[in-house]
Amino acid sequence: MVKKIGVAILGACGWMGKCHSLGYRNAPLLFPENETVADIKWIVDADGDRLKSIAYAYPEARCTTDWRDVLSDPDVDLVDICLPDNLHHQVAKAAIEAGKHVYCEKPFTATAQEALELAEMAEARDLITRVGHNFPKNPVHEITQDLLANGEIGDLVLFRASMHVDVLADPDTPFMWRCDGELAPTGVVGDVASHLFSFINMLIGPVRDLVADVSTTTAQRSVVDGFGYGVQVQKPIRNAVRDVTNSDMVNLMCNFENGGRGVIDVSRVASGRRLLQTYEIYGTKGAIAFNYDEVNRLKVYSSNDDPAHQGFRAIDVGPERRNFSAFLPVANFGLGYNEFKAIEVCEVIHSVATGKSAWPTFRDGHQIMQVVEACFRSSETRRWVDVC
Ligand SMILES: NC(=O)c1ccc[n+]([C@@H]2O[C@H](COP(=O)([O-])OP(=O)(O)OC[C@H]3O[C@@H](n4cnc5c(N)ncnc54)[C@H](O)[C@@H]3O)[C@@H](O)[C@H]2O)c1
Repeated sequence: MVKKIGVAILGACGWMGKCHSLGYRNAPLLFPENETVADIKWIVDADGDRLKSIAYAYPEARCTTDWRDVLSDPDVDLVDICLPDNLHHQVAKAAIEAGKHVYCEKPFTATAQEALELAEMAEARDLITRVGHNFPKNPVHEITQDLLANGEIGDLVLFRASMHVDVLADPDTPFMWRCDGELAPTGVVGDVASHLFSFINMLIGPVRDLVADVSTTTAQRSVVDGFGYGVQVQKPIRNAVRDVTNSDMVNLMCNFENGGRGVIDVSRVASGRRLLQTYEIYGTKGAIAFNYDEVNRLKVYSSNDDPAHQGFRAIDVGPERRNFSAFLPVANFGLGYNEFKAIEVCEVIHSVATGKSAWPTFRDGHQIMQVVEACFRSSETRRWVDVC
């Protein structure tokens, strides 16, 4: 029997609102065996004009500029939060109190305490929760999980990861909400580094302690009304400036609870790096390397190979994995960002339909937020800090 999940998308006009919608729409085509359909009941956005302009794409949905309207609707099973970061905790809390399952974009919250509160509240009510850490849903990382679980690279020695974008590299790039410490309290640490922390959470395990340097490269930016991702072509108004009140770079070293060390560098100011995302996992018997530039490919090294033939070999993820065959029957034709998000979205509605949460839940999100918070504690005190 096909199950219908009533969904309210909050922040429907933004990047994530659209991206999540693509997943909801395609779920029955991608994973027909789940027999689950997302029934989008509400689209919500503070920008009433843009909301009106996209309403025809959701003929069955109701529209509102006030997210509170959806909470009293008994037809809404799932509240999907694609709002700026500062709203996540407040809205998720209200949704949980209204008995709704909650899917929240990253960064999950502003503090670890807020994250713990939400996890405990949802668990007490048996609600499904999910944080939008989509990058690890690239099925290529299932291969990494298998290799690690099978002990193929031995004991962890070093996890080395980088994630950089260049959206704020040019000091003349105008101010956007992501530079505002009120709207985005965790800055680049929650915005970008939390993606790498989600890989750590899935692949490596808890971080024991860390030392981090969190910094801001450009102190002030010009103001252009409505400026954001996708409108970079607008010219700044040079006489109006705003202080940048959060961070755009974080570099850290860490130790993992199960042994091994980590070195991680992240920024939004790396000129020319449209998106760099890499990890390298070095073990006592081999190594695994991922680079988003070859997004469906892993490089794997084994010291068990014949020394005459040793070297990194490439493994392309393919239709042997269900999360790949959902889209394509042949390897190397290419899954990308929207596909990883669609996998996540399909898992979320399947979780609601079956009552079984999937990684990363709000509890996992709390662990990720503990690492985010530890970066700030370390940077402020200029010392190594315990994560828990
Ligand atoms: N998982 C990822 O890879 C990923 C990628 C991008 C963004 N995000 C996260 O998703 C969230 C949204 O980011 P985005 O890029 O979609 O931003 P965006 O600016 O494109 O969209 C945000 C939308 O929220 C609306 N909005 C703002 N305040 C509102 C309010 N009070 N009530 C209703 N609507 C309101 C805005 O009008 C806008 O349409 C952020 O937390 C961001 O960190 C995650």
